[in-house]
Amino acid sequence: MHSEPNVVTRRGDVAMLADVRAGLVDREPGAQRELPPKYFYDHHGSRLFEAITRLPEYYLTRTERLLLSTRMPKWMAVLRPGALVELGAGNADKTRTILDAMRAARADVVYVPVDVSAAFLDETAESLRREYPDLTVEPVVADFATGLRLPRSLPRPILYAFLGSTIGNLEDAEATELLTRLRRGMAPADRLLLGADLVKDVAVIEAAYNDANGVTAEFNRNMLRVLNHELGANFDSTAFAHRAFFSDRAGRIEMHLVAIEDQTVTIPGVGRLTVPAGDSIRTEISNKYTPRRLTRILAAAGLRAVTWETDDAGGYALLLAAPSV
Ligand code: SAH
Ligand code: AVI
Repeated sequence: MHSEPNVVTRRGDVAMLADVRAGLVDREPGAQRELPPKYFYDHHGSRLFEAITRLPEYYLTRTERLLLSTRMPKWMAVLRPGALVELGAGNADKTRTILDAMRAARADVVYVPVDVSAAFLDETAESLRREYPDLTVEPVVADFATGLRLPRSLPRPILYAFLGSTIGNLEDAEATELLTRLRRGMAPADRLLLGADLVKDVAVIEAAYNDANGVTAEFNRNMLRVLNHELGANFDSTAFAHRAFFSDRAGRIEMHLVAIEDQTVTIPGVGRLTVPAGDSIRTEISNKYTPRRLTRILAAAGLRAVTWETDDAGGYALLLAAPSV
């Protein structure tokens, strides 16, 4: 294996090289190749996700939107948060519902959207400033898994939001670690607003990740285009097939890119690798929780749900959690 250790990505992301090396090259023989889902999200990937949220098959966004629009006015009137810190904010479309309810309760609201998708985050912040001229918007480009550096003096209490079931893209241990870090920074009156997809009919879940128009397939393949752009790799994204299936055992969707024929790829800084025909790279997990499993993750992080709502079908949960100690 030939490698060039001094190569960095176009956006200077040394972690990306380490992740690619660990997930594709330095692995036990026979182990699943895998890459972290955060690498879907360059500007184009964020746009593709936005398109996914409008697909008829993708029930998650509209279900969560409905829960937010019916619950936020009441919840925010009681909590009266001064700041909203949102992990993985994306286009912050549903966030408007939270901000509207917060602003009805008090005037000095600060919004801190956190995201890895830097250019897209800029656009989100700009459109929010246009729509809400008197709202303070302080975007933070960061990987929420590696710790947040938040603006120092946020008006309390702080409402942390982790929506869209993005928690589901983390292993339970990773979710626990992230929420533990969050909880350590929480004052007793701060809250976490969490949206999480629940287990349901497998056909419904699988359809959401295998839409008829192939938008999810394009989103999946975008990760290879990101690696090409950022690392100068030469993946042929069209030579990989999209595969998404529900694993009953693990309680999660897995998304893979399956090599249609043997693929040999050069990644500067990593080396050459071959993905044999039929082998895959796992690009994402998307956990579908039982209430018990979600409660266990929260409890392990020192949090407890103080309010817990589901949609009428019981397929999606929106909850408020508080520090339990
Ligand atoms: N909250 C929005 C967007 C969800 S998509 C919604 O509910 O529709 C997931 C978002 O999280 C994307 O905007 C992506 O760029 C961001 N993201 C993914 N992994 C991340 C990470 N490790 N750190 C920060 N942001 C991340
Ligand atoms: C962002 N995340 C919660 C989405 C999900 O459903 O796991 C990403 C996604 N992957 C395929 N479609 C949407």
